[in-house]
Amino acid sequence: MIKKKRASAAPAERAKGGYDWLSKLRCPACGHGSLAKLAPRAGDWGAWGVPGLRCPKCRERYPVEEGVLRLIPQGDYSRYAYWEKFHSTVTAEDIAALYKRRFGFDEAFLLSYYAMPRLARRLGWKAEESLELGCQWGSNSLTLQRFGVTERVWLLDISVFALKAAVRFFRLFGVTPYAIQAEIHKLPFKDAAIDLSISGGLYEHFVGEEQEQVVEENCRISRRVLCQVPESSAAYWGYRRLYSLLKGGWPFGFEVPVSWGRLKALFTRGTFRLAGRDWHDLLSAVRMVVGEKRAWARAVTARPFFFYLFRHDAVIAVERRAPDGPASGA
Ligand SMILES: C[S@@+](CC[C@H](N)C(=O)[O-])C[C@H]1O[C@@H](n2cnc3c(N)ncnc32)[C@H](O)[C@@H]1O
Ligand SMILES: [Zn+2]
Repeated sequence: MIKKKRASAAPAERAKGGYDWLSKLRCPACGHGSLAKLAPRAGDWGAWGVPGLRCPKCRERYPVEEGVLRLIPQGDYSRYAYWEKFHSTVTAEDIAALYKRRFGFDEAFLLSYYAMPRLARRLGWKAEESLELGCQWGSNSLTLQRFGVTERVWLLDISVFALKAAVRFFRLFGVTPYAIQAEIHKLPFKDAAIDLSISGGLYEHFVGEEQEQVVEENCRISRRVLCQVPESSAAYWGYRRLYSLLKGGWPFGFEVPVSWGRLKALFTRGTFRLAGRDWHDLLSAVRMVVGEKRAWARAVTARPFFFYLFRHDAVIAVERRAPDGPASGA
């Protein structure tokens, strides 16, 4: 359960009882809520500690590979194959080098750039666990953990390649994530099982009723949600046109930026209420790029209101009115 600024005795107390990750999951094939662990054997099973899970009801088996739990029923997922090309353009080790450098910078400077931890901090949110949907390397989660917003990190993506790289990336920071291959249309979690779910750059790849359905599924499993998406703003379109012109295309495949009104309508249905709003802007992004090379650029951390005119992403925070009530409000 999420609490505001929790006292420090809590982790020791919880360690005694252990962290019951299994009770949060359900079978993605049949919905059964009591998955069983496969018998332990020697090997590196990452955060899971066992070689896999099985469903006693439908008998589906879900193996662990290089720390990634493949909690996805057999099916045709070729629609998402284009993401593999995107993932292969950068390595976990390169991203780790970038984050090691950035994490050496002052907190105020980092928070002037990273919108999701900035908003979570402003709201006083502190989660027992966070789950990043469409995580790729999970850099949003690593940043949230760096700022003390979350204790345990769960990562979820359709791409096993990305998840294996994410496990390696996190281990370079001494963290072992609960990494799951799953599909966001049918998340393998029970209702309200996750303290805080997050996503960055995910829901703009869906539109219409399908977009409503995947957001509803996100809310079903969560007590609180943070979401960052490109906003349909002048800065977004200007940047996208310029980038496409210079590089000969846009690297993110099918993508439709979302208006603030649409984002709010998507996330505040049913029992969820708006907790906060923020944005990511191009001027802070330029300052980060310069600041990576020049210390003087890291001295000014203000974000005057005119930065809003250069906003590129919208960030929303929502929470359940009744912590364990139904997401749909039905
Ligand atoms: C643009 S990337 C975002 C990466 C990361 N969140 C970030 O902010 O850097 C979108 C990610 O969503 C994943 N994804 C796309 N469709 C998905 C689906 N249906 N289920 C789970 N993951 C999906 C892709 O594999 C990819 O890693
Ligand atoms: Zn099952």
